[in-house]
Amino acid sequence: MADNVRPESLKRINTPELAQAFIEEQIKALREQIGDKKVLLALSGGVDSSVVAALLIKAVGDQLTCVHVNHGLLRKGEPEQVIEVFRNQMKANLIYVDAVDRFLDKLAGVSDPETKRKIIGKEFIDVFAEEAKKLDGIEFLGQGTIYPDILESVGVKAHHNVGGLPEDLKFELVEPVKFLYKDEVRVVGKALGLPDSMVYRQPFPGPGLGVRCVGAITRDRLEAVRESDAILRDEFAKNGLEGKVWQYFTIVPDFKSTGIKDNKRTYDWPVVIRAVNSIDATSATIEEIPYALLGHITNRILSEVKGVNRVLYDLSPKPVATIEWE
Ligand code: XMP
Repeated sequence: MADNVRPESLKRINTPELAQAFIEEQIKALREQIGDKKVLLALSGGVDSSVVAALLIKAVGDQLTCVHVNHGLLRKGEPEQVIEVFRNQMKANLIYVDAVDRFLDKLAGVSDPETKRKIIGKEFIDVFAEEAKKLDGIEFLGQGTIYPDILESVGVKAHHNVGGLPEDLKFELVEPVKFLYKDEVRVVGKALGLPDSMVYRQPFPGPGLGVRCVGAITRDRLEAVRESDAILRDEFAKNGLEGKVWQYFTIVPDFKSTGIKDNKRTYDWPVVIRAVNSIDATSATIEEIPYALLGHITNRILSEVKGVNRVLYDLSPKPVATIEWE
């Protein structure tokens, strides 16, 4: 347990200088731990795994292999950004796995939220394990565990979900940011030169857009979630709300309503906008988005997203509602 208590000597990392000192210390420690051996990392593109990847690239270079699994539930542009930043810019060994069909086939017809989560989690482990088995001589597994994960490890939703690897793939863990709080991870990420869109990214659930495509996931409804989310993020960025609002996204429920377009009746889905503020996700309040901006976002979604004829704004705080819809 002592291994899991933040050392008193670790100062709160809140300046670029402290981040730099932390980075140098970690590079030394990682080199000592890993030596000339190989290390594997599941790289989602979220801030924690991205910071661990950047640290490992600095410390052990091409002894690191990153695996990015595209499960088809990522936001628009995310897989491309992971490839651009880590493969093209940082020259990491990056295995990109297009597992979109595999996940969506397994999820077809499944509407229960917890079953959906289980399928996504299990399939992720399976895909990752298959990739790991193809590689020779891996002894270490990098993980983006952060301090709140350790403090809250009882009863939280699966966050760093490569913990369930099969017995023959039990690697020694490498967890360089396990004593850091989220804000400190961001300061370190910034000092490592990661793009702001990665460093200041809003929380994003492991099951991704899967829990925002309510009920049984279909490809067309999932596309409506992804496209409307991209519009919402674009407008929040343009209007100074990125980094100010804690979490914002869209949901597409599994029901239709009537509408009218080009003088013809339509029968299409609604898009729900959710924008909340929170400190630790246990409770949340609603962001008061200016009405004109809501109208503008609504018009963009209605004209740019296929299969949608209605846009709603969710005004429900947590509690009574949860932040996600599933
Ligand atoms: P709820 O919906 O329970 O969400 O109010 C609280 C926070 O947790 C995120 N969330 C998840 N994160 N795996 C995750 O890694 C999950 O299955 C999951 N479900 C919810 C949610 O986005 C919010 O920030």
